[in-house]
Amino acid sequence: MKKLTIITGASSGIGKDLAHNFAEKKMNILAIARSSTELKELHETYPEHVDFIQADITDPSLLDRISEYVSSNNYKITHLIHSAAIIEPIKPIQQITKEEWDKMQDVNTTSPLFLTMGLKKLYADKIRVLFIGSSWGDYAAKFVAPYCVSKAALTMVYNCLKLEMPEINFGIVNPGNVDTKIQNLLKDSEHFNVSDTIKLKSPKQIAEYVSWILLSTNDEDFSAEEWNLSSNLSGENHGDDEEEELFEDSDDDDIDGGRLYH
Ligand SMILES: NC(=O)c1ccc[n+]([C@@H]2O[C@H](COP(=O)([O-])OP(=O)(O)OC[C@H]3O[C@@H](n4cnc5c(N)ncnc54)[C@H](OP(=O)(O)O)[C@@H]3O)[C@@H](O)[C@H]2O)c1
Repeated sequence: MKKLTIITGASSGIGKDLAHNFAEKKMNILAIARSSTELKELHETYPEHVDFIQADITDPSLLDRISEYVSSNNYKITHLIHSAAIIEPIKPIQQITKEEWDKMQDVNTTSPLFLTMGLKKLYADKIRVLFIGSSWGDYAAKFVAPYCVSKAALTMVYNCLKLEMPEINFGIVNPGNVDTKIQNLLKDSEHFNVSDTIKLKSPKQIAEYVSWILLSTNDEDFSAEEWNLSSNLSGENHGDDEEEELFEDSDDDDIDGGRLYH
């Protein structure tokens, strides 16, 4: 069986670093995002291991395009990682239009759900599907209401899918504050007074954690509950021993902290 990992949002941030991490391990990746330049760069870096589909994940034709790619290459999907998301518009809830609201829910919640269900016939036994959640799915914050609601709904999607599709291993990770475009948008927003002293984890570091969660845990632990990486260790320079500690903590308890602004 030829194995395939699908990563949405692979053009930047956590998804991009995860694609690098997996390709370095010689896994086959199908990278999905809207920005073709970054996707082509990934493909050119790992021509034998990374292919891509340039698409908006809300495009209804994407399911057929992925299905055609997987079937024609005789792949089975072993990992599906939903990293694509948007955070804009960042503004008071009373200024949000219905169109903006609907777009956010579609990108962050609805499309990951329907892609997950639509690709089922192409799954390998023991497939792992991973969602990327957020602390803002757990508690409200000003000026990011559509994002908060979308991430809260995504957590419930994860919980409902676990109940109704027990043959699939579902996981969800809260990455904490990570130095990506999403954080830059928050910093640039007139609505957030983000201190420069706040330390962010690098997307490479988070990709290493996520890779470990996806590839090195057993099925029960993978799906048991949200993996909370929003640790108060965020941004510090950890050695390997400390990374191991974080994994052990994540396995057993919720790590508190990481509520600086996310
Ligand atoms: N950074 C943090 O502090 C943080 C905290 C909590 C949770 N998260 C979550 O982590 C995940 C990754 O985010 P990130 O921080 O790595 O942000 P990022 O660098 O902005 O990456 C977001 C990715 O989503 C893709 N994307 C956005 N809209 C899309 C669409 N309609 N169709 C296809 N792809 C789309 C983007 O690619 P294109 O623009 O090329 O389409 C990009 O590759 C997200 O689910 C986010 O909510 C991040």
